[in-house]
Amino acid sequence: MSANVRPQSMERITTEKLANAFIEEQVAELRKQIGTKKVLLALSGGVDSSVVAALLIKAVGKQLVCVHVNHGLLRKGEPEQVIEVFRNQMNANLIYVDAVDRFLDKLAGVSDPEQKRKIIGAEFIRVFEEEARKLENIEFLAQGTIYPDIIESAGVKAHHNVGGLPEDLKFQLVEPVKLLFKDEVRVVGKALGLPDNMVYRQPFPGPGLGVRCTGAITRDRLEAVRESDAILREEFAKNGLAGKVWQYFTIVPDYKSTGVIDGKRSWDWPVVIRAVNTTDAMTATVENIPFELLQHITDRIIHEVKGVNRVLYDISPKPIATIEWE
Ligand code: XMP
Repeated sequence: MSANVRPQSMERITTEKLANAFIEEQVAELRKQIGTKKVLLALSGGVDSSVVAALLIKAVGKQLVCVHVNHGLLRKGEPEQVIEVFRNQMNANLIYVDAVDRFLDKLAGVSDPEQKRKIIGAEFIRVFEEEARKLENIEFLAQGTIYPDIIESAGVKAHHNVGGLPEDLKFQLVEPVKLLFKDEVRVVGKALGLPDNMVYRQPFPGPGLGVRCTGAITRDRLEAVRESDAILREEFAKNGLAGKVWQYFTIVPDYKSTGVIDGKRSWDWPVVIRAVNTTDAMTATVENIPFELLQHITDRIIHEVKGVNRVLYDISPKPIATIEWE
């Protein structure tokens, strides 16, 4: 797939049969392109990079080197799942980089949202570059580019534009899903045997939980974002909302309010629940979460998440509010 234009004759991949035909064709093409050389992939665990990894593992096995950078801003259980699925189940060549301290140290005291994004993006490239330099004989760089990234110049991924690898580290690009739409990538991922919670996951921004821990990120407040997000996701899954709602998450703002625990006043953070539906992320409406479920989620969050005494429900549509808080 070298051209960047989807042929009109290309059938939409909607079934397992069509996905299998695509996989077979791509595997043959990847083998031809890569031969006996090595390919590098930054594997975040998101749908696109996971599908590219699974395709390449099928095509060239251990010639693929996956690098998973844990920047400390991933959701609960994500790095563990990447290791379990790709290293343990698919037997992939996976380098796991624990860069948590490095990112959080760089972000300490930085409160401007765009500055935070820049630091996260630039540090990510730096960590990836360092790993790439340790490897020998890499000729190809695989990327999870999908068709909307090509056709929408102002698309979601454009937010994350922080430049790329330095000149002396330029590889030939391998982009096996670049002509596919997101729904097709998911059908292909399912046919490749990836777990449902990886294939059908909601969109997750590049800067991760970093933009949901508003203002200057602190480790304890970031933990409150991660734990409350995990509770929200668990309850949405249990109550049939996970596959229905486009994006749902929690935010922990950098201010406190009073509460009362065991007769004593507390001074803790609020957790904000956000759940929205959209088709293109340019406008969004709020999901009407049943009140009893909201109460149940609130009970769990205020009892289970350290440092939190209040839960708020953001019912603002986009516009005027954006989906994320930063
Ligand atoms: P907003 O907040 O602009 O979000 O209404 C629209 C969609 O974009 C995602 N988003 C990002 N994705 N890097 C990303 O990869 C980012 O910096 C970023 N900021 C927002 C957001 O999650 C939503 O799906």
